[in-house]
Amino acid sequence: MTTPGKVFIIGDLLLDHQYWLDRFPQPGEEAAILESIRNTGGSAANTAIALAYQGVPCLFCGRIGRDAAGEEIREQLESFQIDTSCIQYGSATGYTITMIDASAERTMFSYRGASAETPELTEEVINGLREAKLLFLSGYFLLDPGQADFVLKAVEIVKRAGGIVAWDPSPLVHAVDKAVLTKLLAEADFTFPNRLELKLLTGEESVEEGLAVLRERTRNIVLKLGGKGSLLTAKTEDGAVEHFAPAPKVDVVDTTGAGDVFNAGFLAAYLKGGSPQEWLAQGNALAAEAITKKGAVTLFVKG
Ligand SMILES: Nc1ncnc2c1ncn2[C@@H]1O[C@H](COP(=O)(O)OP(=O)(O)OP(=O)(O)O)[C@@H](O)[C@H]1O
Ligand SMILES: [Mg+2]
Repeated sequence: MTTPGKVFIIGDLLLDHQYWLDRFPQPGEEAAILESIRNTGGSAANTAIALAYQGVPCLFCGRIGRDAAGEEIREQLESFQIDTSCIQYGSATGYTITMIDASAERTMFSYRGASAETPELTEEVINGLREAKLLFLSGYFLLDPGQADFVLKAVEIVKRAGGIVAWDPSPLVHAVDKAVLTKLLAEADFTFPNRLELKLLTGEESVEEGLAVLRERTRNIVLKLGGKGSLLTAKTEDGAVEHFAPAPKVDVVDTTGAGDVFNAGFLAAYLKGGSPQEWLAQGNALAAEAITKKGAVTLFVKG
């Protein structure tokens, strides 16, 4: 049984390993690890954890393996009160390994494992989608045709039941099938690109041109502008509305997952009511707080 009004999240479930080094070694060399952090990761999982931290009930759908990493992910999600009843088993649990050198340069290795496999549209998943107030998904889950098809079916179920849809395009959005993108943009209520993703979606170099093109294809666009802040824009009968909110000034330690956390701050505020200005401000505030710590979700982890 799912509680009505949850946020249903579809995405990768990865174990994120981050290692801080003095310097990244040349092939064949060795380097000492100065510090390390291990947490549940994957773009949509970061958003789910940040939503749950703000008291928003969440239900996650994705795949893990029947292994220690999978159990660790499940336990961590449950420690945030995230409903794991739609998590399904597949091959080995996926993971990412990130090496960060003294100049904050990041070198990443990733293995998607079970996260690359398409979830089944079970009775439980269908019920969860029907009862969801909001469906959130990441563009990483649109790259594989089977997963994209699953996502579009989920979108249809949520929309038919009166829910809304929000998604983050991800930096690989240029590799998503164009027909899938067109459908998703037409159905989405909120699209959360950064500047690079706006350019990849529209082919336009300038933000103004990019937004003008994207406004013709979708409803609300929430553009993330890094240290500058964020803006929300949508097409109206007589042109377009635009709201901008500046980012707070903070001492930046690690911007990994800033965009994912921003999405959660924005959506938590939106689900409570309030104004576009408040939604943007809460997204900026939560992301700004999260980037003062090493690791995407460290701010939210207890103890
Ligand atoms: N230097 C910064 N100072 C304050 N806030 C920041 C800074 N960098 C990012 N943010 C906040 O985080 C939000 C998202 O950051 P950004 O625009 O880099 O998204 P992104 O590129 O999608 O991030 P990610 O790499 O995590 O996907 C910004 O809109 C802003 O609110
Ligand atoms: Mg992003």
